[in-house]
Amino acid sequence: MAGLVSWAQYRDSIGDRSGLFAALAGTWPIERALYPGSYVDLSPSTAIASVTYVDTDARAARYFAEHERVRADLAGRTDPGAATEVAFLASDYTRPLDVADGSVDLLISLFAGPVWDHCRRYPRPGGWLLANTSHGDASLAALDPSLRLVGVAHHRDGRYGLSMDRLADYLVPKRPEAADPEQIRRRGRGVAYTRSAFAYVFQAI
Ligand SMILES: C[S@@+](CC[C@H](N)C(=O)[O-])C[C@H]1O[C@@H](n2cnc3c(N)ncnc32)[C@H](O)[C@@H]1O
Repeated sequence: MAGLVSWAQYRDSIGDRSGLFAALAGTWPIERALYPGSYVDLSPSTAIASVTYVDTDARAARYFAEHERVRADLAGRTDPGAATEVAFLASDYTRPLDVADGSVDLLISLFAGPVWDHCRRYPRPGGWLLANTSHGDASLAALDPSLRLVGVAHHRDGRYGLSMDRLADYLVPKRPEAADPEQIRRRGRGVAYTRSAFAYVFQAI
């Protein structure tokens, strides 16, 4: 269909994050994920059985409604057991979603705003949050006593990797006074850290 955006196209511009989700699902028991502000980034479905994507952008809604196209984009790219359910909600994640509280293993927050603030009810106890510092989400998570850092995701030379080494070296603010949740929310920007990563994996405790 002319004008239809797809993951295949999007992947060409932002890169393929499949390796990141393969590493996450290979490390922790992640069967269900929720991805608010996903746009058409289908990469979690290459490694995770059930993923619910959420976006208000009509282009994302059109893409996910094209089930054959979504299947074609995933063909030959899925790990065993992945992509059994690919769901899409054309919803604003700042409002209640049609997702049960405590029902997902992984909440994904990449470049999409304050997802943790609005969607913290959906991961199960002991579940995970993948967040980056764009819009400040990982910085807010770092200050949340109900979360602990359990891994960091790196992106080097187009490849993603997960590390658990020297986690205490991460999320150390260059300016301690910047680690203020209200300031982060007001500015919509993350804190600068002495050592940074592409994204951070937190576990709910
Ligand atoms: C910059 S894109 C990032 C897309 C994808 N997460 C990625 O990392 O490539 C941000 C997306 O979040 C969506 N978004 C922003 N605020 C939203 C909200 N409150 N509810 C649902 N989607 C939202 C936008 O429509 C857009 O598609």
